[in-house]
Amino acid sequence: MENNFPAIYNDCARILVSQQEIAAICDRMAAEITDTYKDSNRRLVMVVILKGSMPFASELMKRLDLPLELEFMKVSSYGSGTTSAGRINIVLDLHRGDLANVDIIVIEDIIDSGRTLSYLVEYLKLGGANSVKTCTMLDKPSRREVEFVPDYVGTVVPNEFVVGFGLDYNEKYRNLPFIGVLARHVYEK
Ligand code: IMP
Ligand code: MG
Repeated sequence: MENNFPAIYNDCARILVSQQEIAAICDRMAAEITDTYKDSNRRLVMVVILKGSMPFASELMKRLDLPLELEFMKVSSYGSGTTSAGRINIVLDLHRGDLANVDIIVIEDIIDSGRTLSYLVEYLKLGGANSVKTCTMLDKPSRREVEFVPDYVGTVVPNEFVVGFGLDYNEKYRNLPFIGVLARHVYEK
């Protein structure tokens, strides 16, 4: 198709969540999260799962009307391609001081099999955190392999491979400003 869009836009079959919808999702989730923690006198630590959650976390955090600390973790579960490798490795860990008076909110881009977040929540609880909640921009419940229910969900998506706004296919498309369905011609060639 001939158009003036940047070339990477044409690798999306269709837009699933527009920029405007992403902003509205972040407004709503930030209000819910602010409401949950506003009367807490514990430290609140936002743990951002690299790399895919970075754009979502930065949109969300500036809307949170709360004192907040920021930390990053990186896990590897996916190899290349569109299916999970099934194993979770922690590649970058939290700096673990005393977590006893800490509430953690984990920020994820998408929940698919559920393996990453169910593993991380257990790991952080074992580390001694007072509480661990999870916040995901996208949820693909039809793909669950382990039972896992996130505390905050931006929007539910169908069983299709999505890219953009942090989500990648072989490390590309993270810089798309919207979330789109990856066109089949990209991964079936
Ligand atoms: P889970 O452990 O299977 O829940 O996988 C979560 C991780 O898989 C996410 O952080 C993503 O990196 C990746 N993932 C799952 N589905 C998609 C998708 O449709 N597009 C891009 N990445 C995905
Ligand atoms: Mg990822």
